[in-house]
Amino acid sequence: MDMLQVKHLTKIYDGKVAYRALSDLTFTVQKGEFVGIMGPSGSGKTTLLNLLSTIDTPTSGEVLLNGQNPHTLRKNQLAVFRRRQLGFIFQDFNLLDTLTLAENIVLPLTLDRKSLREMESRLNEIAAKLGIVDILNKRTYEVSGGQRQRAAIARAVIHEPSLLLADEPTGALDSKSSKSVMEAMENLNQTIGTTTLLVTHDAQAASYCHRVLFLKDGQLINEIHRGASRQTFFQEILNMLSFLGGDAHELSAVRL
Ligand SMILES: Nc1ncnc2c1ncn2[C@@H]1O[C@H](COP(=O)(O)OP(=O)(O)OP(=O)(O)O)[C@@H](O)[C@H]1O
Ligand SMILES: [Mg+2]
Repeated sequence: MDMLQVKHLTKIYDGKVAYRALSDLTFTVQKGEFVGIMGPSGSGKTTLLNLLSTIDTPTSGEVLLNGQNPHTLRKNQLAVFRRRQLGFIFQDFNLLDTLTLAENIVLPLTLDRKSLREMESRLNEIAAKLGIVDILNKRTYEVSGGQRQRAAIARAVIHEPSLLLADEPTGALDSKSSKSVMEAMENLNQTIGTTTLLVTHDAQAASYCHRVLFLKDGQLINEIHRGASRQTFFQEILNMLSFLGGDAHELSAVRL
């Protein structure tokens, strides 16, 4: 089933000079898929995520999530839609320093007035999958970057969103932490089938995906699928990135 349908999506930023950041983008994502989005700086990746997350509105074209177009919802319905259907992960974690990791993670559930018992059981289940059970009572500054990001992932999925959107979740991490985060995301995808869209510059991170879409100048110019070997996929992603061009420094360090 197509969980996400993106149809002829176009975004033109108005200004002194109008800028076409996304041009007639069409693709679908199946339920349970783990899809990467790559492309040089300025190719429209964040613009795309902002349209999917309804932070911004398209100039034309449409987004359907489970058949529903969030851009046609009223403000109240939209707030509920975002809270129930979407999960977000960012480069800079967005956790609250004054709370423990556990408190951060259950925050979205408290908004939905879930019972304490239900919150605890979900917390324990997700924390176990992400390997952070032993540090749940620590505060954000007492744990490593990789642990912090795994807590942010737990918070993003604890309400079981239809779609998890991640913009450069490994962008601020060293290669070891980055690996722990990608393994955690892969585990979530495999065990609870979290449908995930991951924007990244990092070919190593992208190699955990089932499929990677490549954007350039706001257009979808290619997509490649992972076969049996992650290592082979990694090499194919690197080849595609060098074929796409862009300055080498825009594509962050290659991690082997
Ligand atoms: N609010 C805005 N107003 C005008 N132009 C914008 C705005 N946001 C982005 N752009 C332009 O749209 C294009 C796409 O930007 P976007 O942020 O989507 O790129 P990106 O692929 O996420 O890049 P990066 O890899 O550097 O994060 C860029 O040329 C950018 O300058
Ligand atoms: Mg971006």
